[in-house]
Formats: sequence, structure tokens, C-alpha cells
Amino acid sequence: MIVLGIETSCDETAAALVENGRRILVSAVSSQIPLHKKYSGVVPEIASRAHVNWVNEVVEKALGKDKPDAIAVTIGPGLVGSLLVGRMTAEALGWALSLPVHGINHIEGHLLSAILEYPNLRPPFLGLVVSGGHTELLINKTWNQTELLGRTRDDAAGEAFDKVAKMMNLGYPGGPVIDRLAKEGDATAFSMPRPWLPQTWDFSFSGLKTSVLYTLRDRNKLSLQDKKNLCASFQESVVDVLVGKTFAAAAALGLKNIVVGGGVAANSRLRERLLREAQLRNKKVYVASPAFCTDNAAMIACAAYFKSRSGSKSKQDLTVRAVFPFPPYKKKIGPFLAPSSL
Ligand code: KG4
Ligand code: ZN
Repeated sequence: MIVLGIETSCDETAAALVENGRRILVSAVSSQIPLHKKYSGVVPEIASRAHVNWVNEVVEKALGKDKPDAIAVTIGPGLVGSLLVGRMTAEALGWALSLPVHGINHIEGHLLSAILEYPNLRPPFLGLVVSGGHTELLINKTWNQTELLGRTRDDAAGEAFDKVAKMMNLGYPGGPVIDRLAKEGDATAFSMPRPWLPQTWDFSFSGLKTSVLYTLRDRNKLSLQDKKNLCASFQESVVDVLVGKTFAAAAALGLKNIVVGGGVAANSRLRERLLREAQLRNKKVYVASPAFCTDNAAMIACAAYFKSRSGSKSKQDLTVRAVFPFPPYKKKIGPFLAPSSL
């Protein structure tokens, strides 16, 4: 079965053709970063207009000579104007080609992105989705049953990277720049808090961001090396919390497999720490290659394949939503309370 995926939830216009949920035939991504760079963030109106300009070209590139059996489109969470462009494109194509159209949750796309590169990956698994808009710990007992264990109470991890980079005048998006500068920095140079939030699986990154703000205010001139050190110190704190909570949850729930997705999963230090910790604790971490961690349409096609195989009714619901209510995820409460300290 060949699925055409379409993704336009934020600032990437993407289309992909994926066979049987795992074999990527084509993946086309047109990034809008150059358009949003000067605003240090995504401007929704500019994003919607750019999707309108680029979506047909990207879909044509993905379609090539193969005819899909179904279409999958991101219906949220995301920017409503941007989502509508993808949905209208998918519906028009579905009508023209007489194909079913599946509405897919962007977060589930990120969660399942690792499947594209790990053919043997099967549920049950613990999922960590870390992107610009979301930081969530999830449990998948089956392909179709995703439950929420914890989520950020304020900033998402990627949002914290972007805002810290903005405070330091490092450009947009902040994650890749901080990742690069941190490689030459000393992570112990600045003392940063670890927002552990005892007894809950939720996260919080806004206090950490404020710590960086106070550091910048107190040290009015930073050398390049100071900046590298601050990037490394900030990044290490985010990574400590993400890795610490993820492995604590895997241990509490007795889950061996951990699946990680979302733009921040492209972070080199996070990847290194996840893999090292997995070795130490006899767990297995599945994380997509960096190009499939950030927004793409192959993950949307892949999610549609596995969800429809397990009987999801996603094709009946194409309602575009900026924020998804819960469900689709049931919040999981006790008896798996998080420990009080790392
Ligand atoms: O998943 P994604 O492409 O879009 C959303 O769904 O939000 O994630 C984008 C986020 C941005 O905040 C960006 O700064 C972050 O992912 N990101 C990174 C890295 N590459 C992208 N964060 C840390 N390190 C990276 N290497
Ligand atoms: Zn995303």
C-alpha cells in the first residue's frame, strides 16, 4: 500500500510517498526558515501564504510516477491557516483521484517517525516527542492506542531552545545553533537549574529560560567562549531532564523500547546521552535520523498506514485543530508516580 503524506502544520511544506509504512519512495520538504528568520520565529500569515505557493510543487515532486492508494494529511496541532492549506490540497486530490483521505495528528507522526528506519520496531513502547510546540511522554500499547503520561506545563523544549537563542542573538531556529556552539562549550561553566518536577511526569522549561535571561542580565558582556559555555550549560540541563524523566518512566512502566521524535530529537547531545543511557540501563532507544526528526511528510504517511491497519477511524475526521483536546490521548494517572528526585 502506497500512501501520499502531506504536512503543512507549521513552517515546512512537505509531501512524501511511503510504501507499506516504512519504505520512503520520495520525501520532499520545502523549508520556510529563510522567510521567518528576520522575525526570529514563525509568522502565521507568512507561513500560510508560503504553503499556498509551494504545496502543489512539493506534492507533484512526491507523486512522481507512482499512484498512491491513500492520502494522509496533518490536521493538527499546528497553525490553523497552514493546516487548512494541507487539508484542502489533500481533499481536492482525494476527490480527483478517488482516494481515501486520513487526518493525522502531527505528534503521532513525530512519535512514529522512527519506524521509517527501524523495521523491527513494534509496540509496546514509551514515546518522547520533543518539538518546537510539544514535549510529551507517551505510551503506545498498540499502534492505535496512544496514552499521555506527561507533557510540558509551559514552554516546549524546542521553544526554550529558540527563545534562549533569541535572547543571545544567535538567530532562528535556535536549536541547531545552540547544538553547534555547545560542542565547543563547557557545560559546567554556568550553573543552571534542573526542572525535575517531582512526582509527576510533566515537564517545565520556562524557569530554565529565565535563568539564562538573568545570567545575560548579570553579565552584560559575554565573550564568544562565554556564549558557547552558556549554550552548553543550558543544553545540558534540558538534556538531563529529558533523559532522566524518560528513563525513570521506562523503568517505572517496565518498558524496554523507547521511541524518540520531534525536532529536538535531532540534537546531537540528546542523541548521544539517550544512546549511552540505553546501553547502561539495558533499554533500546529508537530515534529517526535528524532529517526525519524535524517536520516531514513521510512520518505522516507512515502514521496513517499503521493506524489504518489497526482499525483507526482517522479518515472520517478531517477537522482541523490548532490544539488537540485529550482525547486523542487519555491522560494516564498513577500508580506510576514519578520519583521525587533523579
Ligand atoms: O518538530 P519540528 O520540526 O517542528 C515542530 O513541530 O515544532 O521542531 C522544530 C524545533 C525548533 O524549536 C528547533 O529549534 C528544534 O526543533 N531543533 C533543535 C535541533 N534541530 C531542530 N533543537 C535542538 N537541537 C537541534 N539540533
Ligand atoms: Zn513537528
